[in-house]
Amino acid sequence: MMLAFAGKGGVGKTSVTSWMADWLARSGHNVWMIDADTALSLGQASGLAPELLPQPVSSRTDLVRERIHAEGFINLNPDVGDLPRELAVEVPLHEEPFPGVVPGWKRLLVMGGLSNAGGGCACDANALLKALLASMVMDSQDCVLVDLESGVEHLGRGTAMHVDGLVVVTEPSMRSFSTASEVGRMASELGLDRQVLVINRYMGGDPPELEHLPDRRFTIPVLGGLVQRQMTDGNVLNLPESVELDAIMERIVAALS
Ligand SMILES: Nc1ncnc2c1ncn2[C@@H]1O[C@H](COP(=O)(O)OP(=O)(O)OP(=O)(O)O)[C@@H](O)[C@H]1O
Ligand SMILES: [Mg+2]
Repeated sequence: MMLAFAGKGGVGKTSVTSWMADWLARSGHNVWMIDADTALSLGQASGLAPELLPQPVSSRTDLVRERIHAEGFINLNPDVGDLPRELAVEVPLHEEPFPGVVPGWKRLLVMGGLSNAGGGCACDANALLKALLASMVMDSQDCVLVDLESGVEHLGRGTAMHVDGLVVVTEPSMRSFSTASEVGRMASELGLDRQVLVINRYMGGDPPELEHLPDRRFTIPVLGGLVQRQMTDGNVLNLPESVELDAIMERIVAALS
């Protein structure tokens, strides 16, 4: 199963990706976490110390040149099947596995911005990510969770065309719902109809009637434990509200499976 997480900036995409990855691993799945955002925060949100973060794919100018600019032109189908194993790092589980379940692992791969790598441009970053996702879909039964950059640009470039499901994250605000609706529309155009809407920091009320907002909806309340924690710590796992979050993640995965 390959899922992407999209939405407006700051709505909680990285947090939801971290919660779902940890829940999946504790439920027995092996999980590849792909940080496709340039802010590089998925590792931190999953409790990984800064010195343990993996080297971003983009910083490997040797690889970018070799794979993307081979023979002097941009190769849109670079062979990248080995990158996950070569560059990803193991991320420890931050909560107890479920009783009687052999937990899977979590591995983090950071794409990084490619604009300055290997004389490249944003199209390089997309070519690399697209090729990577295509190779992972074909090669493995594991779960792949892709934390996308905020906004709709990734979808516009077709990056998410290889994923099986999309988690559209929004805040309870009109601007954020508008972005969510745009994300939903572009994803549907890519043929990605398996979508859910996650309204994060939900405090009640009905979402606006916007076309293309995914029909299947889940809410996550404001988490007091996280509000306290995030003053000093970027880790979003192991909260007082974890049991509640686990139940929500389980329902979202069921809706997308
Ligand atoms: N339900 C919640 N309750 C309280 N705080 C939350 C909740 N969800 C997320 N946060 C906090 O909101 C902030 C933004 O969350 P996060 O980084 O996951 O958003 P994002 O959509 O990935 O942002 P960006 O667009 O910058 O990548 C973080 O500090 C996170 O701890
Ligand atoms: Mg993020």
